[in-house]
Amino acid sequence: MTKIQTVTDEISREVFQVLPLSDLMGAEIIGLDLSQPLDDRTRDQVHDAFLKYQVIVFRDQKLTKQQQVTFTEQFGPLERHTLRNLGTNDIPLVHVVTNMDDDGKLLGRVRSEKWHTDKSFRPEPSMATILHAVTLPPAGGDTVFANMYAGYEALPESTKAELADVKVVHSWELSRENIGRVMSEQEKRDAPDNAHPLVRTHPETGRKALFMGMHASHLEGMPMEDGRARIEALEEHATQERFIFRHNWREGDVLMWDNRCLLHHADGNFDTTKYPRVLHRTCLRGTATR
Ligand code: OGA
Ligand code: MN
Repeated sequence: MTKIQTVTDEISREVFQVLPLSDLMGAEIIGLDLSQPLDDRTRDQVHDAFLKYQVIVFRDQKLTKQQQVTFTEQFGPLERHTLRNLGTNDIPLVHVVTNMDDDGKLLGRVRSEKWHTDKSFRPEPSMATILHAVTLPPAGGDTVFANMYAGYEALPESTKAELADVKVVHSWELSRENIGRVMSEQEKRDAPDNAHPLVRTHPETGRKALFMGMHASHLEGMPMEDGRARIEALEEHATQERFIFRHNWREGDVLMWDNRCLLHHADGNFDTTKYPRVLHRTCLRGTATR
């Protein structure tokens, strides 16, 4: 693993440090206080680390919802949340990720347990998600990431060639059906299906990555069953242990990840009938896929 790297300002003063967390991806950013605005140069340096490591974690932060919005906005426009996640918060751009219902009763499970990439059913899927730990169980409740650059790169050349022009339809409606929830007509209108390249070119790094996950429904121009089987096989390949990074949450963590080249899911590896797990979430809007 590469060792700690020091990032400096114009006159070589240390601004922050970057500590890689695995050989595959993930890095800790040490020495920044996110409640304060970042200057442009620092912001760009953080963004570089984000592109390089795909998942970055800032330790020991304590942000109000508004401060989290302000931090997020430094990297671009925020993404609104789905209709169901709106209106319950004082600040609607911050979605509360919780294992409790509206009355504060524990659900006995965590949400988002299936592999996915955020808002992949939108025409411009999310660029990044930022999660800030508010209440954590004593241990567990990890967020797990699979690297879709690595998954793609490890495919046989013949498979890469076959997948080159394939489009995958992402459907919020189907994805909700799969977890046993029927959407209202208004919700359906709010989030219609969208097709994206199955092999996506990252708009900033130019690297290719698989783009699928639980909102991926079927492949365009291929019978439903065949397309689904193909998607499932690819997901099985791309989520092997060797492509995975697991984030063990600590109090004060702010995690920021790149939705354009990763899948992620929450792990209910703690007693979900006993402990609350609450995080504040903001999303950055992405761009059209290619
Ligand atoms: C999300 C998500 C995972 C988690 O907020 O988009 O998938 O660990 N969260 O809660
Ligand atoms: Mn998610």
